[in-house]
Amino acid sequence: PRYFALLPAAGVGARMAANGPKQYLTVGGKPMLRHAVDAFRASTLVTHTYVVVSPDDGVIDSVLPPDLDGVTVLRVGGATRMDSVLNGLRALAGVLDERDLVMVHDAARPGLTPALIAKLIDGVGDDPAGGLLALPVVDTIKRSAPGAEGIGVSAATVPRNGLWSAQTPQMFSYALLLRALGSAPDANAITDDASAVEMLGYAPRLVEGHPRNLKVTLPADIRIAEMYLANKED
Ligand code: C5P
Repeated sequence: PRYFALLPAAGVGARMAANGPKQYLTVGGKPMLRHAVDAFRASTLVTHTYVVVSPDDGVIDSVLPPDLDGVTVLRVGGATRMDSVLNGLRALAGVLDERDLVMVHDAARPGLTPALIAKLIDGVGDDPAGGLLALPVVDTIKRSAPGAEGIGVSAATVPRNGLWSAQTPQMFSYALLLRALGSAPDANAITDDASAVEMLGYAPRLVEGHPRNLKVTLPADIRIAEMYLANKED
């Protein structure tokens, strides 16, 4: 099979409170998006990488020069992450075959490595349900309920046994991913691609990822990402 990467990078990074979209923040000397793209470019298993940005993106050409090997920018970003992925997939109709495997990866995860990409590909194998990198949950998880004066209270503890935090890449056949995202009921409720695939009745494989593949969401995450980027072995 052929393996492709698709990176949604059309978000505005509202939680980061920085100047500009977070995928362009410099982490370890490079924009975050560039780290993620370079991991796929460095993987000998990946045929080509596609990056979805907003139609009005004015920064991407400096981050990914148009002559960069192995990457194509698609200016078809949408209102939600799911829309950006779906628009990207639709733009590749006729380019990708329905059996081609697509790895969707958040632009805000700069710690990805070719070894993790290979681990995902190996762990999913030829499972038609696809799969994703994920980490077993280490925290004790509480379910909140509305308390007095609107202050949330801890109503229950969710057994963490069997709970995983989803990472990316998440890999599915082109046909399955297109069908799953195209039929998902509510774009805002879809926070990853696997959840749309699960709604079709498939059980994607969980492949253990690595903490270095964290999603940079809060300002302090930049320091953590830099710590991992400084040490390729971590
Ligand atoms: O905001 P969040 O961290 O969930 O974003 C995850 C990824 O989805 C980021 O790479 C972001 O750029 C992308 N995204 C997108 N289009 C949107 C919203 C987010 O491509 N409308």
